[in-house]
Amino acid sequence: MKRLTVLTGAGISAESGLKTFRDSNGLWEEYDVMQVASIEGWNRDPEIVLRFYNDRRKQLEFTEPNRAHFGLAELEKHFEVSVITQNVDNLHEKAGSSQVLHLHGELTKACSVENKNIVKNIGYREILPGETGEDGKQLRPYIVWFGEAVPAIGKAIPLVKEADYLAVIGTSLNVYPAAGLLDYRKSGSAVYIIDPKEISIHIENAYHIKENAGTGIDKLIELLLKK
Ligand code: OAD
Repeated sequence: MKRLTVLTGAGISAESGLKTFRDSNGLWEEYDVMQVASIEGWNRDPEIVLRFYNDRRKQLEFTEPNRAHFGLAELEKHFEVSVITQNVDNLHEKAGSSQVLHLHGELTKACSVENKNIVKNIGYREILPGETGEDGKQLRPYIVWFGEAVPAIGKAIPLVKEADYLAVIGTSLNVYPAAGLLDYRKSGSAVYIIDPKEISIHIENAYHIKENAGTGIDKLIELLLKK
């Protein structure tokens, strides 16, 4: 089977009702990114940070995957599909994708403030101030904040290098190192991009499906199955 690697971002979950970050009305318009998504913000006011992610987690419990998530899961019948996602939701897994790599963490997990390897599955429940992990230290959201290392990038690079086909769905490609992953693809290989907006950066051999993910996915499937 040929290998298909797909990089996804907040736009793939937009039609499920989750806000993107940088679109108008996006999360970074409503919240101060450095307060809720950086270690400095956490040190300044952890309760605001806990509340932000507790709200996101609560919302996720009642959020369902959309056609784009299901379409990627269906593609496993035809390709060896790896999903590399910047999303912290679990909608790819809920839709049935079997190989999902989360670059920026997962909402349904918590970790120790002192050691990110001490991870606890918490499902959709809140993390409370004063709640501690195995090591007796405060639990925090299992999220990669700005300024923190992205350990999963090491696993993502070979998935891009080895891909026969690459697709990008619903990401503004603004955040590194995720945005740099395309540099590792086989030289000359095409990238299918699903996004309703113009692509603001230059990408060699890009094939833009200028649609929402929910309809764009069927175009992508059609194109890939013709290969
Ligand atoms: P952005 O909000 O930066 O970009 C979302 C992209 O999705 C934009 O290009 C939109 O045009 C597109 N989009 C909107 N609606 C769509 C739809 N229905 N179908 C397809 N595409 C749609 O989100 P990300 O690129 O995911 O990190 O942001 C990357 C990271 O920045 C996030 O993981 C998060 C954020 O800060 C952290 O919090 C650490």
